[in-house]
Amino acid sequence: MRGAGGWARATDFVAAQGWPGFDSGALLESAPPSSPGSGDLEVVGCLGDGGVLGGVAVRSGPRGAVVAPLPEAWPPLAGWVAAARPGLALLSGPAPVLDALAAARPALFERAGEFRLWMTVLGTLQPSASTLPPVRRARLRDAPVLHQIYGGIPWMRLADVATMRARLRAQPAFVAEIGGRPVAVARWTRRFRHLVEVGAVACDPDHQRQGAATAVVIAACQAARRARRQVLLRYGDPETGPLYHRLGFQHVGQAVIREWPAA
Ligand SMILES: CC(C)(COP(=O)(O)OP(=O)(O)OC[C@H]1O[C@@H](n2cnc3c(N)ncnc32)[C@H](O)[C@@H]1OP(=O)(O)O)[C@@H](O)C(=O)NCCC(=O)NCCS
Repeated sequence: MRGAGGWARATDFVAAQGWPGFDSGALLESAPPSSPGSGDLEVVGCLGDGGVLGGVAVRSGPRGAVVAPLPEAWPPLAGWVAAARPGLALLSGPAPVLDALAAARPALFERAGEFRLWMTVLGTLQPSASTLPPVRRARLRDAPVLHQIYGGIPWMRLADVATMRARLRAQPAFVAEIGGRPVAVARWTRRFRHLVEVGAVACDPDHQRQGAATAVVIAACQAARRARRQVLLRYGDPETGPLYHRLGFQHVGQAVIREWPAA
């Protein structure tokens, strides 16, 4: 789908899907509407009977995402993935779609890592029963200590303090303090229309189980609600599930990320 018209049509379709469209929507919204089909953004629509849009695939640089609520769109999407694969390092979307693509083209996904994440949506934010550490909005000068906290978690590690600073500039982040020092962080990680993903939740190992992560997640959610946004959150480790479910997050399905190793 080319031009701003294609971008707008794909964006409307993806938005109508709710959380299953979030990965695609976040990619679409991170790219300017003038660029579909040109340069680094590719937007593909699968048309069914009567030209009705049944699925969308988005590629922004090496990242791709798909959404297709009806199985009739899965075979053409599988064809798109096969064609796009040389330029794709990562593909994400709702589990039923990603699983169908892998079943249709096993050879294509043979070397791809697979990450399954529980997808949750915040219902009514529940107050915490315990007293929590104080929380405030993160400042740019928190970047070194936050870089250090993320540095202790292999899959959250950031290249350098400048990258941390760039993340703080791009999206709201919240820190909990114990002893006057930030010990836990949560951020808005991605946005799409009225949806925001809260994530990158981490607590320094010396201060865990004191409610610091709970406090920062609450703050990130309150900020989202004040901005009239619905909150999505994904987690991979089932041990962390109770933290989120206690706050009112409800499980809505699974998201899958497939990642190909660099050649
Ligand atoms: C997960 C993490 C953020 C929790 O931080 P925290 O400040 O200790 O969390 P809280 O004190 O607010 O804990 C709230 C609840 O989460 C659950 N929880 C947190 N850590 C847990 C653990 N290691 N094992 C089991 N349950 C855990 C418990 O239900 C806990 O409540 P409880 O202490 O009353 O039993 C922290 O362990 C961490 O940084 N882990 C590595 C990064 C990570 O997994 N981030 C989450 C990505 S989705």
